[in-house]
Amino acid sequence: MNLWSAFLSHQDADHPTHKWKYYFPVYERYFQHFIYKPLTFLEIGCWRGASTRLWKRYFGPHATIIGVDINPACKAYEEDQIHIRIGAQQDTQFLQSLLDEFGVPDIVLDDGSHMMSHVTATFEFLYPRMAKNGIYMVEDLHTAYWQRFEGGLRRPTTFIEKAKGLIDEMHAHYTQGGALLPTNFTHTTMSVCFYDSMVVFEKCAAKVNRGISMPASYDAVHHLVLDLLYLDKQSDTAELYQRVRLETDGERLLQANERLLQQGQLRPAYVIAMVLAKSGREHWNIAFSLAAGEMIFRLPMQWEYPLQELARMSDGVESQQREEYLRERVRPILVPFLQRVLQQRSVEYLRQIVAITQACIPDLQESLSGLESGAAGEESQNSLLAQAALVLQRLQA
Ligand SMILES: C[S@@+](CC[C@H](N)C(=O)[O-])C[C@H]1O[C@@H](n2cnc3c(N)ncnc32)[C@H](O)[C@@H]1O
Repeated sequence: MNLWSAFLSHQDADHPTHKWKYYFPVYERYFQHFIYKPLTFLEIGCWRGASTRLWKRYFGPHATIIGVDINPACKAYEEDQIHIRIGAQQDTQFLQSLLDEFGVPDIVLDDGSHMMSHVTATFEFLYPRMAKNGIYMVEDLHTAYWQRFEGGLRRPTTFIEKAKGLIDEMHAHYTQGGALLPTNFTHTTMSVCFYDSMVVFEKCAAKVNRGISMPASYDAVHHLVLDLLYLDKQSDTAELYQRVRLETDGERLLQANERLLQQGQLRPAYVIAMVLAKSGREHWNIAFSLAAGEMIFRLPMQWEYPLQELARMSDGVESQQREEYLRERVRPILVPFLQRVLQQRSVEYLRQIVAITQACIPDLQESLSGLESGAAGEESQNSLLAQAALVLQRLQA
């Protein structure tokens, strides 16, 4: 059964639903994928309860329908699958209590007060908190042109004007010279569609540039940096690594790394360095040096990974190849580490370096074991640093 026939067969004089005819093709366009799926559908504005029942009929047995209304009498329309909660749509504490109780909605349909400030407050609170592939629909937006609903033609505070601005925000990535900085909305919105009296927003999972071909003016490094910062801010480490892995241009990664370091954005810079190093790409030693040089004292422990990786890489290296291995691969990494450690006179770091380097470079074992025993004695610090300086000399020779 389609929604329109459900609507026609569902009307009764006591419980009409208040929907305009031409909304139905729009509903179907966005809602049909959710039929028979587990779904959390939130409608703001119940009136006589008929629309919540219509949604239940349309979406099927796995749908959870939540109706919200300011009128306590609406509570009477609760039934199996239909939950009615009484509160004001502009009250964000009330909205939070809905999220706490039912989880994030897949679809929000705002058919409530239609007061512009309420519509905006509800959208601003719920939209960022919806499911990743959520649909947010606001209907009866002819009210945005009517004073009684805080509307008026081109009045900046109407929801129509807000939605117009959100079109630009969705495209912030492409503005030049950073005219508009990407926001959470930019990254999570796939479409903003205007219909007569309706605006529909389609969300999507983190929308980062995945190497699509772009116009010549497109500053790929700038956008890569923005993507990484966004993913980092979301603490989405897996996505962050994935994003760097997808990047095929090593030069571009290095440039992005430099920009991130200039900006003091150490974590995504470190991720780039690690991915370059792990994937054995050409510039892995530069990446290590960047990570080591810039981060060693600002992100404690982060540099341990490169050294462990070093230890792992040295496994299975034949003894006759060790000199070459030391010269080609180990030295470029250890030298900047040791230089920094010595500059900072950081005994704790030195101890850790000793443990790891001993494991991976047998040639250094002798001097390093002296270094370690020095660390345990009375003159520990000075002796340790002196020994480390010797190791450094040896590596630089
Ligand atoms: C247009 S009717 C809803 C029609 C219903 N969705 C239907 O299709 O049959 C609007 C409803 O919003 C409710 N309402 C008004 N102001 C509200 C507010 N601030 N918060 C929540 N609901 C509100 C009214 O009580 C009314 O029941």
